[in-house]
Amino acid sequence: MPSIIPQPESVTTPAGASPIHVDGLVLIAGPTATEHRVALQASTLLSADAGVTVPVAEAPEPGAPAVILHLDASAGSTDGHADGYEVNTTTRPMSVRAASAAGLFHGVQTLRQLLTRDADRGVLIEQAVVVDAPRYSWRGLTLDIARNFFPLDILEDVIDVLAAYKFNVLHLHLTDDQGWRIESPSRPELAKFSSDTSNSGKAEGYLTLADFRQLQDYAAERCISVIPEIDMPGHTNAATAIYGELRPDGQPTEKYEGMEVGFSQLTFDLPATAPFIRDVLGDLAGITDAPYLHVGGDEALTLGKQEYAKFITLLEEAVAETGKKVIMWQEAAAAPTQPGTVLQYWDTRADTAPFVAAAQRGSRFIMSPGNHAYLDMKYTADYERGQDWAGLVELRDSYEWDPATLIEGVPGDQVDGVEAAIWTETLSTREQLFDMLLPRLTAVAEVAWTAPERKDWEDYRTRVAAAADGWRRQGLTFHETPQVDWN
Ligand code: ACM
Repeated sequence: MPSIIPQPESVTTPAGASPIHVDGLVLIAGPTATEHRVALQASTLLSADAGVTVPVAEAPEPGAPAVILHLDASAGSTDGHADGYEVNTTTRPMSVRAASAAGLFHGVQTLRQLLTRDADRGVLIEQAVVVDAPRYSWRGLTLDIARNFFPLDILEDVIDVLAAYKFNVLHLHLTDDQGWRIESPSRPELAKFSSDTSNSGKAEGYLTLADFRQLQDYAAERCISVIPEIDMPGHTNAATAIYGELRPDGQPTEKYEGMEVGFSQLTFDLPATAPFIRDVLGDLAGITDAPYLHVGGDEALTLGKQEYAKFITLLEEAVAETGKKVIMWQEAAAAPTQPGTVLQYWDTRADTAPFVAAAQRGSRFIMSPGNHAYLDMKYTADYERGQDWAGLVELRDSYEWDPATLIEGVPGDQVDGVEAAIWTETLSTREQLFDMLLPRLTAVAEVAWTAPERKDWEDYRTRVAAAADGWRRQGLTFHETPQVDWN
């Protein structure tokens, strides 16, 4: 069986069919601009994977293999999901077909995973018919670039990996106590003067408007939405360190490069507070393509319940004024949130009553349980980096959980999807980042994409081992967990 991650809805392989050599392989696009664009992307990806040029052509050379890429309203999955696709490498020509551009792009990722290497014959394409569609429409990664900043080139590498495993959301945690990482045109002081700090003391910086534009375009070409987060009313020391008017005593706070959380806050009753919130969210909405803004809401530990609730209502209103929809961390459920507010679940230690109540009000959920999906947790107790407050998270922990049954009393059909999350207090380099992401990100990919009855740990373990070869060739670090028999 081919080693496809996430496991598709259905994979059939013809008995006794031998793999096809890539020699002379060409891609043939359907007539639309979308088909042509995805074919060009497939050409770049397959050429890099196979180590030979796989061009887009009008027609195959006689006798040579070809893959046609076609938009086809009837293709992909049994339930007609927009992200579905079909890959068939048993016909001549072979085909990738889907009803949408995203489906076509996901099909290309599956086609890449049908490549295998044979010591004698070289690079081959396995023969299979794959019919596929995701379980969840929201499949994301939360990435913290506030504690340590990660520049555009590393973010693009992350997007490439997300795309390979059929994720469609990159949620960027842009602000925190340790830095303000996004240019805010109406408040230029924030990024200019509050981005020269970081947890490592050497990963500073911020995304300019041009960087953010480039990042969203790069992501969109790979069918990924960028959801930006400005975290308020806690996690705000990068703002209070610039604006004394956000403090009751009028004095800016000291800049912060430490590990503690929960000490910083905005103050509801100050005249400068609501204008600050409206300015930075208006700026953010103005540069964001996605329909959502994430406004944090977590760990505002110094705020009383009533002041916190007033903030949540203000944040909901301020986002609504921008025309965007709002996402907040789970704590917001303690306030009387609007039914349209999406809640991101993370801390499995919390009392679940507010989440059940929010679900009854109509809220929908994104699941990021710390003990499964927080990929900054250490793999093992003595691991050289990472945290452990949510427990140790080995590969199998990231694999074996079900978003639909995670919170008793929150109906599975109110779960929109899943985000892995990586917080960067202990990570500041590309190598460290990917060592924590991989292989666990692929486990969360399968949780988000694959129906529970199609998941199987022993089978997944062998498919992960097969992925390692590609990661090595791409220069991606990964943790060689003993839970996998690496080749
Ligand atoms: C969080 O981990 N504070 C959302």
